[in-house]
Amino acid sequence: MDAEVAGNRAAWEIASLKHVREYGELLAAAAEAELLERELRLLREVLQTRPAVVHLQSGHGLDDVALTKAGARHVVGVDYSVTAATAAQRRAIQLETSCRYVVAEVPGVPLRDGCAELVYTGKGALIWMRDIGAWAADVARLLKPGGQLFVYEAHPMVPLWSWDEDEPRIRADRSYFGRSHINDSFPANGAREWQWSLGEIITAVVAAGLEISSVEEYPEPFWQPAGVDAAAWQGRLPNTFSLLARRR
Ligand SMILES: C[S@@+](CC[C@H](N)C(=O)[O-])C[C@H]1O[C@@H](n2cnc3c(N)ncnc32)[C@H](O)[C@@H]1O
Repeated sequence: MDAEVAGNRAAWEIASLKHVREYGELLAAAAEAELLERELRLLREVLQTRPAVVHLQSGHGLDDVALTKAGARHVVGVDYSVTAATAAQRRAIQLETSCRYVVAEVPGVPLRDGCAELVYTGKGALIWMRDIGAWAADVARLLKPGGQLFVYEAHPMVPLWSWDEDEPRIRADRSYFGRSHINDSFPANGAREWQWSLGEIITAVVAAGLEISSVEEYPEPFWQPAGVDAAAWQGRLPNTFSLLARRR
């Protein structure tokens, strides 16, 4: 693992202790977890086929429980944080869901080629990819022919938005075309985020041999820190996007 990725992993191990400190709250939230309406709309067709799902960068695993409730036959969560994967596995066992967890780096996932009918990812995942082309190639490898990739992710513009509550502003220290920056919210601890423009993400998915059927942009953020109500989140600016693509 390269040194910067290893540094990020250490930052995530510290941040993921939250999943242990808040174990009970997260267990209750997992029991109630549902996918977003727009995820259900875009995934309706594939979920009807009771797909085998691989969730890359699965974090606390709430979405895994939601995926099984929505139709997934089983979900394999992949995350390089031992703390996150262990807490998610414990919750999945307690809730008797068909989710299991693998501790591993993405890309380079140690699962067999073609094991997934749906690869699900996002909500703070792509910004941790140092090489978006290698990520897309690993997704394509994991998918069965005909299998689908679904991404619901922070819009690449998000690192630019200030959290000012009066007016949306662009941070003076960020650029849409910047290659990386140091995270200053969560997980903090010096983690380095890599930036990929929407064009670069789409091109990587197409270059990996996937056929895109939908790209949508939305004003709502997927994450809002407690106590902050930024003007950039009030409906005028893009804060999330979704992408659905199929392996031919
Ligand atoms: C913002 S969290 C989001 C996770 C998940 N989507 C959720 O909603 O809980 C990002 C997760 O990605 C994991 N992660 C970051 N970079 C990774 C990498 N290169 N390989 C595997 N996991 C990674 C972190 O450990 C963390 O659990």
